[in-house]
Amino acid sequence: PPINRILNLKQMEDVARKVLSYKALAYYSSAADDEISNLENARAFSRFFFRPRVLRPLSNCDPSTTILGFKSKIPVFVSGAALAKLGHPDGEANITIGAGKTGIIQMVSSNASLSFEQVAASRISPSQPLFFQLYKKKDNKAAEQRIRDVEALGYKAIWLTVDAPVPGNRERDVIAGWEIDDIERLAQGDKAKADQPRKKSDMEEVEETIDTTGTAGALIANDDINMTWTETIPWIRSITRLPIVLKGVQCVEDAVLAAEAGVDGILLSNHGGRQLDFSPPPLEVLYQIRKERPDVFNKMEVYIDGGVRRGTDVVKAVCLGAKAVGLGRPFLYAQSAYGAAGVVKIVRILEREIVTAMQLIGARRVSDLVPEMVQRVDWEPI
Ligand code: FNR
Repeated sequence: PPINRILNLKQMEDVARKVLSYKALAYYSSAADDEISNLENARAFSRFFFRPRVLRPLSNCDPSTTILGFKSKIPVFVSGAALAKLGHPDGEANITIGAGKTGIIQMVSSNASLSFEQVAASRISPSQPLFFQLYKKKDNKAAEQRIRDVEALGYKAIWLTVDAPVPGNRERDVIAGWEIDDIERLAQGDKAKADQPRKKSDMEEVEETIDTTGTAGALIANDDINMTWTETIPWIRSITRLPIVLKGVQCVEDAVLAAEAGVDGILLSNHGGRQLDFSPPPLEVLYQIRKERPDVFNKMEVYIDGGVRRGTDVVKAVCLGAKAVGLGRPFLYAQSAYGAAGVVKIVRILEREIVTAMQLIGARRVSDLVPEMVQRVDWEPI
C-alpha cells in the first residue's frame, strides 16, 4: 500500500510481514522459548492507565527531550537490533537517514549488517549523534579496539549489553532454517562488501548461500560471559570517556548497583523477550523502581525498551521516570517495508501520538509528565 495509508506501527509491521522473506521475518520476530516475555512486554502497557488533568494550557505542546545530553525530538530512540540488511538492501543506513531527518538518535548494533563506518557515513550531517551498542568480547584487546574505533568514528555513547551472556533459545529461527554460521557470515560477509554498490540481490544472495546450523549463538560466540560489576565496568570506564549505559538491567537491585557503579544510564530491557523467557516486562521493572527506589532516577538516566508500539506507551513510561524509550523491531519492520521513508513515517506517527496523549492528560512539556499521571490497574482490557 502507499505509505500515506499507514496509520500506526501495527500496520507498518503488517506490510513488513508481506515483504520479508520467511527466514528474515523469523529472525526479526522470534523470541525465547514460548515467547511469553515478548508478549507480556507489550501487554504490560495495558495495565497502566492515565490520570488525566483538565483545564490546563496546552498550546505549543513540545515533546522534545535530551538523551545523555543530546537533543531528541521525542523521548524515543532506536534500540540497536542486528542485521537490518535482511529486510532491505540499504540496511542500517535507512534507519540512520530516517533518524537524522526526524531528529531522533539511533543506537547501532554491534552486529549491524553495515560497517560502523558506513553507518556513520550515512548520517544526514556530521552533527547527527549515534550511539553504539557493545557486545564485549572475551579478548580485552579486541574489546578495547572496538571501543576506540567507534569513538574515533564519532559515536557518542557506549551501550553495553548485559542481558545476553549466552544466546536465548529462539525456536522460530531454527524452524525457519537458520544455522549458527549463517548469522556470522551475514554480519561479516556483508561488511566485507562494504565498498560495493548496494543492490537488492545482495541480501538474497547472502540468504541463499547460507549453509550452516544454529541461531543467535554465532553473533555472540566470542563474547565475555564473565563480566562483573567490579571489573568490567571500571575497565570500560578506564578506556573511554564516552557515557556508558547498561542495556538489559532487569530488577531494582541491579538498578541500584548500576547507580553505585557510576554509569550514566540504564536501559531496562529483556532484549525484546529474546533472551530469558519470563524475564519481567521492562515497564513493570520501571514501576518497581519508581515505588521502591525513586532515588535511582536522580543518579542516572533510566530508559526502557520492549513492546513499545504507541505514543501512549511512550508517555506512560516517561511519566514513571523513563528519560526515553527504545524501539527495536518497529524500526526493522519500517525499513524493510519502505526503506528510510518507512523510518521517517513511524517516527512521525509516534510524534503525533505522543503530542495527542500529552495534551489529553494535561501536559505541555516532557517535564510536565509525572508519576501521578499514571495508575496501575489490576484489571486488563480485553
Ligand atoms: C535485537 N536486540 C539486540 N540487542 C542488542 O543489544 N544487540 C543486538 O544485536 C540486538 N539484535 C536484535 C535483533 C533483533 C532482530 C531484535 C528484534 C532485537 C534487542 C533490541 O535492542 C531491543 O532490546 C528489543 O528489540 C526491544 O524490543 P522491541 O521493541 O523489539 O519489542
